[in-house]
Amino acid sequence: MSLRETFDKNPDRRYIMFGGKGGLGKTTFSAATAYWLAKQGKKVLVFSVDPQASLSDIFKRDIFGKGPVEIMPNLFAQEIDADQRIKEYQDEIRKKIRDMYGMTEIPEEIESYIQSASAEPAMEESAIFDAVVDIVVGGEYDYYIYDLVPLGHALYYLSMASVYDQWIDKITALRTEMEEYAQVASVMKREKESEEDQILKELQEIKYRINKSSSILTDKHKTAFFFVITPEEMIILDTQKAAGLFAKFDVPLSGYIVNRVIPRELFSQDIPDYLRNRLEMQKGYLDKIDQVFGADVLTRVPEFERDITGLPMIEKVANSLFGGEA
Ligand SMILES: Nc1ncnc2c1ncn2[C@@H]1O[C@H](COP(=O)(O)OP(=O)(O)OP(=O)(O)O)[C@@H](O)[C@H]1O
Ligand SMILES: [Mg+2]
Repeated sequence: MSLRETFDKNPDRRYIMFGGKGGLGKTTFSAATAYWLAKQGKKVLVFSVDPQASLSDIFKRDIFGKGPVEIMPNLFAQEIDADQRIKEYQDEIRKKIRDMYGMTEIPEEIESYIQSASAEPAMEESAIFDAVVDIVVGGEYDYYIYDLVPLGHALYYLSMASVYDQWIDKITALRTEMEEYAQVASVMKREKESEEDQILKELQEIKYRINKSSSILTDKHKTAFFFVITPEEMIILDTQKAAGLFAKFDVPLSGYIVNRVIPRELFSQDIPDYLRNRLEMQKGYLDKIDQVFGADVLTRVPEFERDITGLPMIEKVANSLFGGEA
């Protein structure tokens, strides 16, 4: 099956992810797929949590932290700014504290606590996670293309979902128990809704959002996950390992795309030994890829004469990925 056929045959798969090791072409293929789908008249959002703002680079537009930005008709791109998200959290916490205790100023100790909690790496992770959940549960686009950060991180993200889930289960159970006491207390105090009750509601809301997003991202009817590989020994080995891990998290794999294939026509031309050697070496690894991944290899994309930035280059990649004109 070709990449195009996987799209044609699975029209319900509207969450698309490209995974793979660093620098192999995830962002390039995310942008090119978004471009191709948009040209087909689908409304597409391509988004990333990459602080390196590589979607800004490839589209040649500064979109970092600006929400969904229209790149061309039907094509929107968004880069999440985790720091900005954390600042919004801080403001929310401050507001809650002020409202709850009727304060006008946040006391210094509390302020410094808020500051140090926000410096925790876990805070950044959860800010990113939350932003992704927001996007994924949104539902206003025909396609969502999640341009993933390099593999290790993507795995971490997926494991986060299950860790979060367990954690929230525990807290929710605890809260439910406490709620019974709290209700008694609040009846005695004639309060309408106890504070515990509100916290429980918030936790259940978080749980709902996480379940919804992780179920979308691991549902093979809704999600397509493609691995980007290149014809190199280490990449083939690492990808095999990673594919095993992804299977563990029940992420359905939709196939592999081989990037940076040196055009074969060069073989029959008068080329220096150096290039001829590289071509031969690549041929060996391409055969190995076919052996190892077999029918799951969907398509090969050539090494282009220059970096992929700007819509005309993105269009070239899209044509090579999906075959023919968009
Ligand atoms: N087929 C290709 N021909 C020429 N250049 C390419 C090709 N594919 C990718 N590139 C270039 O390789 C570099 C890395 O590609 P890209 O940013 O898409 O990788 P990535 O997997 O998203 O990287 P990261 O892991 O850092 O997010 C970019 O400069 C891109 O333009
Ligand atoms: Mg990238």
